[in-house]
Amino acid sequence: MSTVRSDPEVTKARELGLQRMLTVWIVTGLIFMLLPGTFLGVWNLIAISGARTAAQIDPAWIQAHGHAQIFGWIGTFILGIGFYSLTKMGRIPEFAVGRAWMSWALWTAGVALRWATNLWQWHWRLCLPASAVLELGGFLLFFATVSGHRREESDAAREAKARPVWMLVVIAGSIGFFVCLAANLVVAIQSAAAGASPAIPHALDQRLLVLFTWAFPVVTIWGFSARWLPVFLGLPDPNERTLLAALAIDIGGVAVAMLGWFVAATAAFLAAAGLSGAAVRVFQRSIKPAKTAGVHATFPLFVRLAYGWLAISAAVSLSAALWDRDNGLWGASRHALTVGFMAGMVLSIGQRILPAFCGMRVLFSPKLMFWSLALLNLGCFLRVTSEIGAYESYVPALWPLLPVSAVIEMTAVTLFAVNLLVTFHQPPAHLAGAR
Ligand code: HEM
Repeated sequence: MSTVRSDPEVTKARELGLQRMLTVWIVTGLIFMLLPGTFLGVWNLIAISGARTAAQIDPAWIQAHGHAQIFGWIGTFILGIGFYSLTKMGRIPEFAVGRAWMSWALWTAGVALRWATNLWQWHWRLCLPASAVLELGGFLLFFATVSGHRREESDAAREAKARPVWMLVVIAGSIGFFVCLAANLVVAIQSAAAGASPAIPHALDQRLLVLFTWAFPVVTIWGFSARWLPVFLGLPDPNERTLLAALAIDIGGVAVAMLGWFVAATAAFLAAAGLSGAAVRVFQRSIKPAKTAGVHATFPLFVRLAYGWLAISAAVSLSAALWDRDNGLWGASRHALTVGFMAGMVLSIGQRILPAFCGMRVLFSPKLMFWSLALLNLGCFLRVTSEIGAYESYVPALWPLLPVSAVIEMTAVTLFAVNLLVTFHQPPAHLAGAR
């Protein structure tokens, strides 16, 4: 069993080790987001717009994009931030940094292998399940590290500590993450044994996508929102009962979606989205000044817009369950959720916290932060409206707008990545001041 020593020098060295490790996780997430994720997404959308249908595009390529964004970007960020912030609560155990590196190696290899397998199909019957095993292995190391640390901490304290509700929600998100990776492994084995290509069949993929969004990133973002929004936006404390109600309804929605009952599931997501916004009080007036030092002053507005996209996405997914004919309503609801809500939260909260977490730095440019968020919201608006109009044939004149929306979104996420990468390249704030 490992030791937890409190020598200040040792603690400082571990803190620096954790900061370096987090920086590598974040840079890895940015790389997955830019090339395997966004560039391939833009490529697919230009092809779809040219053909005026998504039916001619290889579903393996579309799934490669979705997997790179959800797991390669959002998942990598969540694992890195999870390792950093959960092991930092209290003293940093000796094993945390080494485990985080091992987990990073497994995870990155798994996600990269999945992307390459979907694109090039080289020995795919072997590589597809292998990628899922590597991803699950990387996650299990994370889970064992952060939960083992909590156990050790309570042994030391010799008392059971009540966990705050935000942490319970983050734990629920981590369990959701595990369920996603386990389901991914089962489906990968099934496809390898009986499928004709690495692409997951459409009906099964629709269910998996519900799991990959509403069971894991959405829940984790709710948990971190309850932790950080009262501080950053100066909001009143979250309503814990309402947050737990949102979580319970969301889990119910995911469960019925797995049975294929999409109308009930999406109605549940709409209720859960409304309750989560009410629980974290994101649309209420701030009772203290928002903490915008070092970031753009519009930061609170963009967090509120992200929660607006969450509600829009749930409403569009309910209409998709009722009326979708050509995947336009489903696609629009998915991107309102992934680009509007998830990417909107990551771009706003990420640029607020990551400079400090990754070595006590100050964000390179609040202006770039503004433009990344403004363009993301504009691109998302154009994407959601034109995807519904064009794919569903309500307004075919909107087809040419889709590549425009894609380029605007790509510019937005590129500005975000540049802002963070330049920030990481700068010296820490205290050394910069001393120059
Ligand atoms: C530059 C921005 C993006 C573009 C141009 C883009 C493009 C696309 C396209 C063309 C599809 C095919 C289905 C459809 O037509 O709706 C798709 C699917 C998908 N996208 Fe995106 N996307 C972008 C950003 C994102 C982000 C940020 C995420 C997640 C965080 C994401 C997650 C997904 C998922 C999960 C799917 C479904 C994959 C599947 O069918 O298994 N996308 N995207």
